[in-house]
Amino acid sequence: MKAYVCERYGAPEVLTVQERPQPVPQDREVLIKVHATTVNSGDCRIRALNAPYGFRFMMRLVLGFRKPRQPVLGTELAGEVVAVGKAVQRFAVGDRVLAFTSMAMGCHAEYRCLPEDGKLMPIPAGLSDAEAASLCFGGLTALSFLRRGRLQPGERILINGAAGTVGSALVQLARHQGGEVTAVCSTTNVERMYALGAAQVIDYTREDFTQRGERWDVIADTVGNAPYRRSKSALNDGGRLLLVLASLPDMLPAPWVALTTRHRIIAGPVSDCVADLHILVELAQAGVYRPEIDRCYPFEQMIDAHRYVDGGHKRGSVVIELLPD
Ligand SMILES: NC(=O)c1ccc[n+]([C@@H]2O[C@H](COP(=O)([O-])OP(=O)(O)OC[C@H]3O[C@@H](n4cnc5c(N)ncnc54)[C@H](OP(=O)(O)O)[C@@H]3O)[C@@H](O)[C@H]2O)c1
Repeated sequence: MKAYVCERYGAPEVLTVQERPQPVPQDREVLIKVHATTVNSGDCRIRALNAPYGFRFMMRLVLGFRKPRQPVLGTELAGEVVAVGKAVQRFAVGDRVLAFTSMAMGCHAEYRCLPEDGKLMPIPAGLSDAEAASLCFGGLTALSFLRRGRLQPGERILINGAAGTVGSALVQLARHQGGEVTAVCSTTNVERMYALGAAQVIDYTREDFTQRGERWDVIADTVGNAPYRRSKSALNDGGRLLLVLASLPDMLPAPWVALTTRHRIIAGPVSDCVADLHILVELAQAGVYRPEIDRCYPFEQMIDAHRYVDGGHKRGSVVIELLPD
């Protein structure tokens, strides 16, 4: 099978397409023919070893010192089950499935084997392969941070970086949970944010949300430019700051802030779980959550897709199609 392999950290051009052995499912695994996958901000961070300030050494420890230990990137996929291990009970050949492999990655390939009890679900009716492949990275991150931030119905939430994969999921899911959403994005994305359910949109190219004299119960920052020192004046009493992207210096004040103020800083990696994937799929089935798709590339243009994502202004997800919808 063909797979994109990352044999050293660097620019998109470090990726090469290679022939690799097709995986064979173990007893409790299914073999999936990949129809669609995504290039997300996580893939590009890993490829480029682009860690938030203070985390570079830790990133090398976790991922591999000179190159990623798992050389095939890609954390999400949609496809078809083409073989099953002899003890598999939940899936059969021909099932359309979506999956999230998280740090195990390996989705930028024509085939991927996965355990049947992992983050693997049938694709809900009405969802294209491209949408199914785009469901998890933003959706699971958003669900996890909203839970940790204890958003309550009627509370005001501001989402900085609302047009990206995580941001657009946060807008939809916060609104679904009863939050009154303020989205922060550039001029070109303003109308889209209203369409996704934002009650108010702030164009960051014209206005700084921290200087409006307004306050929110929850502020979620997916950009990394709204740490506590900048956001505190915009937080209500009891407010929570969700740092989806945070440097080490941005995270260190969290215990002190919790001790000395009525604010909370919530940061760190997402602990995505199978239960959240079930919730997301149900929300997609109910039409409540629809992943935003910026553009699709054929498998052969993986490097172009990485270049585009590196630009930092994609709207929702960038999809790689191996079998166009
Ligand atoms: N903590 C975790 O476990 C976790 C999990 C997932 C992701 N992350 C991190 O979260 C971050 C966001 O991920 P993502 O996949 O959503 O990224 P993304 O899709 O690449 O985000 C791009 C978006 O950022 C917006 N943006 C750029 N500059 C901005 C600014 N100055 N103000 C407001 N918006 C701005 C852009 O909107 P405009 O074009 O309108 O500027 C664009 O739509 C990444 O750094 C990722 O590593 C962390």
